[in-house]
Amino acid sequence: MVSDGNEILEILSSEIKGRFGVFRIKSPDIFEKCRRFNLADKARELGLYPYFLEFEKNEGPIAYINGEKKIMLGSNNYLGLTHHPRVKEEVISAVKEYGTSATGSRFLNGTLKLHLELEEELAEFVKKEKALVFSTGYQTNIGILSALLGPNDYIICDSKCHASIIDAIQLGLAKKVNFRHNDVSSLEEVLKSIESDKGKLIVVDGVYSMDGDIAPLPEIYEVAQKYQARIFVDDAHGLGVLGYGGRGTANSFDMDDRVDLIMGTFSKSFASIGGFVAGDRYVVDFIQHFGRSIIFSAALPPPALAAVRASLHLMKENPQMAEELRKKGEKYRNELKSIGLDTGNSQTPIVPIILRDEVMTILFWKRLFDEGVYTNCVIPPAVPQGQSLLRTSVMLTHEDSQLEFAVEKIHKVAKELGVV
Ligand SMILES: Cc1ncc(COP(=O)(O)O)c(C=O)c1O
Repeated sequence: MVSDGNEILEILSSEIKGRFGVFRIKSPDIFEKCRRFNLADKARELGLYPYFLEFEKNEGPIAYINGEKKIMLGSNNYLGLTHHPRVKEEVISAVKEYGTSATGSRFLNGTLKLHLELEEELAEFVKKEKALVFSTGYQTNIGILSALLGPNDYIICDSKCHASIIDAIQLGLAKKVNFRHNDVSSLEEVLKSIESDKGKLIVVDGVYSMDGDIAPLPEIYEVAQKYQARIFVDDAHGLGVLGYGGRGTANSFDMDDRVDLIMGTFSKSFASIGGFVAGDRYVVDFIQHFGRSIIFSAALPPPALAAVRASLHLMKENPQMAEELRKKGEKYRNELKSIGLDTGNSQTPIVPIILRDEVMTILFWKRLFDEGVYTNCVIPPAVPQGQSLLRTSVMLTHEDSQLEFAVEKIHKVAKELGVV
């Protein structure tokens, strides 16, 4: 039950803002902070809890929650391949042939023929010498950065890089410096301040997961050259979406050979789970032998590998899919803009509705949910303070009528809450 009472909202608002205070609690019982953390329960009681919801079914553009049908506007299944008949068939065949698990780490007994074949195909897809497959995208970033970064190195990170990159850096010994989001002059200032004999790795997302904007790779490359810095692109959201047939952000700028390392996840356009890094053979080979997450964690299992392979084949055989998705995204984005909503600098099928205030974002999320539209409710720490947003994304498999329905409901709620 949503209450419109200002009092309840004020209490919720102050609790949301103060939620990290539990980490400052001093107690000999390490669980005391857990006992005192009751914000999630309070939000659930108010019917305003947008996380860990139970989906009875998620069929791509449509999902079912509590027996109710929702238009899914919060998925990373950009090409809609999770329910493609060929992907499902190939997964079933792989289970029949190889079983359900790789039963160990890639390092010891877990490397299957399927891993190696997929690595060859992925390397060719992104035009690199060698690729290496990991068990999740998160682990891919952990593996790459834990291997590459030593005490003589600097990592120069866009301030909106994904959390997996931040976590990976914390594992290593390198020094981290941020530059302002997508601001090449800020990047240059940082590079200028670093001693010339230090190793330097610039890390950017190709497409930013919350804002749907794109890293300015040509300008980043110019600056990187000047300061002898290497470039690593996390293209979790660019692969399948940008470039020819979905070959990613670097490809969209015709810069496949000028970006040093590309990583991708399989949990988005590739309809599976896992991740990979691609680059020069000697660099990827080094990551393979020093990346902690590939050595100390079990290998990606056959059904997940088969789903990626089938999705990759579909992308290669149907290069028009990425283009159609981009057009669909553009039409949807223009419609949100014409309503008067702030969609930031989105240039992709990821279109944020920027609301800034956390409580307003939760209320907007809930009203849309009740109207039959599911979006992602994004508040700090996923975004900086004061930049809360609803993350929406278009899939190739959305029908026009489904997107029209969603836009109509977004408009209705935006008017009702005084956002437009
Ligand atoms: C930019 C980016 N990098 C890495 C990851 C981690 O990938 P995965 O969720 O597949 O582990 C994500 C996932 O949300 C992401 O958005």
